[in-house]
Amino acid sequence: MKVLTTAKEVKEHYRVSVLRSPGFVPTMGALHEGHISLVEQAVKSCRMAAVSIFVNPTQFNDPDDLVKYPRTLDADLKLLSEHLRKNDFVFAPSVEEIYPEPDTRRFDFGELEKVMEGAHRPGHFNGVAQVVSKLFDIIRPSSAFFGQKDFQQLAIIRELARRNYPRIEIIGCPIVRENDGLAMSSRNRRLLTQHRERAGEIFRTLIAAAAMITDYEIQEIKEFVTDRINMIPGFRLEYFEIVEKESLALVRSRIEMSPEREYYGCIALRAGEVRLIDNIEVRLR
Ligand code: PAF
Repeated sequence: MKVLTTAKEVKEHYRVSVLRSPGFVPTMGALHEGHISLVEQAVKSCRMAAVSIFVNPTQFNDPDDLVKYPRTLDADLKLLSEHLRKNDFVFAPSVEEIYPEPDTRRFDFGELEKVMEGAHRPGHFNGVAQVVSKLFDIIRPSSAFFGQKDFQQLAIIRELARRNYPRIEIIGCPIVRENDGLAMSSRNRRLLTQHRERAGEIFRTLIAAAAMITDYEIQEIKEFVTDRINMIPGFRLEYFEIVEKESLALVRSRIEMSPEREYYGCIALRAGEVRLIDNIEVRLR
């Protein structure tokens, strides 16, 4: 595997290795098994794979979150070297390489960005679209792999690709979980021990909430999730919403749900200072 830090080096790598258009896994580093599952899928399905490691400042609406975001480049490179092949590469640019001048582009994703993360983290998805478009322009991948944990991000990136990068196939990959069900996230390593010990409760709550759909109204399910999360010492629910998979339209009553469509229950909460998100499919039987 090669480690490249500039767009020029990427171009040169394509020239000498003859291959181009890799399967691409964009990350912000602090890699865990969830990322590795994306990398493995890219390696399995593409003749060349590229992984980016870049903590993108423009997607952090909370400056403290940016400062505290874990940065573990050496460990990340070591882990990737166990999975990437000779011609595959890691792209780990500096902030100046990606943003030689401030990126003033404004993306409008309409209703997709008005709910959930979009409503709670102003500017977040604009920053994600800025960096992903810059990375797509540099890497020029044939496909790009994203985890389904960032459910709304995946919908936004599908829309970005539909509009601006129709030749890039966007592939959503299943959530990888710890033994107790906690969705893997780079943020998990910042959890205090007492919060980590109770964090399996998040997925158990989602499973119970998804099962309630046959007998309970949306509002009752939301109250159940709110009570159950807020009961855990140090945990505070930010939102729980049931949304339609493609449009992310909020479901307010079961009567709005169509058997032809897919729905997901999406949660965001704080465990101490750490913000976590997760989701589960909600199936009308
Ligand atoms: O999901 C992430 O880690 C980031 O939002 C991404 C897609 C790498 C853009 O910085």
